Amino acid sequence: MDNHKIMNMLLIGSGGREHALAWKISQSASVRRLFIAPGNAGTAQAGVNVAIGVNDFEALGKFALQEQIDMVVVGPEEPLVNGISDYFSGNAALRHIHVIGPSKQGAQLEGSKEFAKEFMMRHHIPTAAYGSFRIDREKEAQDFIRTLSPPYVLKADGLAAGKGVVIVDSPEEAFAALHEMFSGKFGAAGNTVVIEEFLQGIELSVFALTDGKDYVILPEAKDYKRIGEGDTGPNTGGMGAVSPVPFAGKTFMRKVEERIVRRTVEGLRKEGIPYRGFIFFGLINVRDEPVVIEYNVRMGDPETEVVMPRIDSDLVELFRAVAEGNIGTKTIRIRPQTAAAVMLVSGGYPGDYPKGKPIEGLENTGDCLVFHAGTAEKDGRIVTAGGRVIAVSALNDSMNTALSVAGRNADLIRFDGRYYRRDIGFDLQKYL
Ligand code: AMP
Ligand code: GLY
Repeated sequence: MDNHKIMNMLLIGSGGREHALAWKISQSASVRRLFIAPGNAGTAQAGVNVAIGVNDFEALGKFALQEQIDMVVVGPEEPLVNGISDYFSGNAALRHIHVIGPSKQGAQLEGSKEFAKEFMMRHHIPTAAYGSFRIDREKEAQDFIRTLSPPYVLKADGLAAGKGVVIVDSPEEAFAALHEMFSGKFGAAGNTVVIEEFLQGIELSVFALTDGKDYVILPEAKDYKRIGEGDTGPNTGGMGAVSPVPFAGKTFMRKVEERIVRRTVEGLRKEGIPYRGFIFFGLINVRDEPVVIEYNVRMGDPETEVVMPRIDSDLVELFRAVAEGNIGTKTIRIRPQTAAAVMLVSGGYPGDYPKGKPIEGLENTGDCLVFHAGTAEKDGRIVTAGGRVIAVSALNDSMNTALSVAGRNADLIRFDGRYYRRDIGFDLQKYL
């Protein structure tokens, strides 16, 4: 790839994360055409949607050849865990196409909690103490639970659509949750269960973009996972986000880089695990010490909707450096302002919810960015097509102004059953 080559890009995914990525990618002077598979009504404003599923590697490969795609950017984890990166690199006709997203082996950082835990142990990366038990070791798992103090954290080893973590207060509930996982509640993902020490602290998300040797650190973010105000009720994919995170100061972030980011990338390199893509470090701040809760092998959603607006650098140039293995020669320019995002969701979410509700008022929004998450176009109208529907992001010198601008614009977008949290950022006030 010569340095100033203009590229054709294929972005894979269909959520708010992908709209934010598409928005940022489309601003690059290095991009000729941008396709999104399958995309949503928002990504259609930044590029061209293609009706191919994220796990249909054969169709994606064929399309990539047909449209002379130079680079594939993978949004969600599932195709990565299923080996999309290896599919391209292992096929003579597709090998020249760069994939931003780790190998199948690298994707095990997210695809297997047990793998991630063992990796962190090998590389002295701070994480909660744990035990890992296969399905034929229920008795040993119960004995391990008896040695812990409450609350108890149980995690299905494999991908479980964000639902594989259970936190309960009594050993009896822990035994029951364990038994459910071993009985197939999460399918094969629960054939191994990781049981870990409960950590008390405040969570944040840190992101790196790596070529497997070096990395740049992207803006960090805090997301709001619970459906209800005051962080109450069931977990969701994420109801809002803020970046930067006021409690993640220089000293804390230095610890994150030295003990977590650097050791992770070093570990991948030493173990010969090919990794060109994003690493998402789900961290918890325990008395000013960063500890890893989980790895993801992709960007976060809705974190991407606050991270992208803060990146001043050309993202595609950073991708190119990742593909060429020289990200170590690059720096990333980050805007000092705060970005805040508020997620509009369908009534009933995270449980069952209706789809196909017309969305009104999109044209009334101003001084903000509107990223579509679950939307579709139907008979010339934009309608709801998912639980999380739209993220409204605002950028401002003041966090509270960013939050109020996002909230004011969120209120202008209407659909039957619409819900959003009005308290995003509530817990950050004390750090300002
Ligand atoms: P995960 O899918 O691993 O991110 O876990 C989902 C959520 O469970 C996290 O975002 C945390 O809020 C919580 N959690 C996971 N592990 C722990 C732990 N060891 N201590 C406290 N909370 C945890
Ligand atoms: N917002 C958390 C995630 O993307 O996993």
